[in-house]
Amino acid sequence: MNKTSAGLSWIQGSFMWGNIPAAKWMRDLQSKSRETYDHCVRVALMAERVGAGLKLPTEARKRLMHGCFLHDLGKLLLPRRLLDQAGPLSEAQWRMMKLHPELGAEILEMDKGIDPASIDIVKHHHERWDGGGYPYGLKGRQIPYLARICTVIDAFDSMVTARSYRTRLTYEDAKQELIRHSGTQFDEQIVRQFLSLMDREAYLYE
Ligand SMILES: [Fe+2]
Repeated sequence: MNKTSAGLSWIQGSFMWGNIPAAKWMRDLQSKSRETYDHCVRVALMAERVGAGLKLPTEARKRLMHGCFLHDLGKLLLPRRLLDQAGPLSEAQWRMMKLHPELGAEILEMDKGIDPASIDIVKHHHERWDGGGYPYGLKGRQIPYLARICTVIDAFDSMVTARSYRTRLTYEDAKQELIRHSGTQFDEQIVRQFLSLMDREAYLYE
């Protein structure tokens, strides 16, 4: 993904806001799992544009972008073998994988310079609108708004990029998946707004 490296220095630059520990942890994640790190960069780049498209106030856009950049940080504490596994995960491996939102949040809570709203994105990006997500099973508007936005961008990026364990979906199929799971997995209103912005931002995936 060519645009990832182009966006990289911009994202890293935006992280020179005094939170050096967070920037260092993300570099550690980069050396542990390049795939996870690149995903975090793309989700953050997309979040910047989605935040603008939704006309969020400047501070909220910043919190959204930072939270999206950091959202999978907890994977830093998971075994590399788990992150690189090509086949489907076993039940025990899934239990371990599902710890990453809380692990990431706990790492970040040690850094007083990180906005709690960004930490909430990390903690809640795998909650589902219908309450069937993790780690807390929050439902609907109980899930922080910025985390609900991250969930949609995260899912879209995961679908349209190839992972070690599966091939990528086409844009059209990924959009249909978001629509299909609106109101169950995703906040329907956010999906609608996201899809209307998407066509302009597809260049991130060229
Ligand atoms: Fe995640």
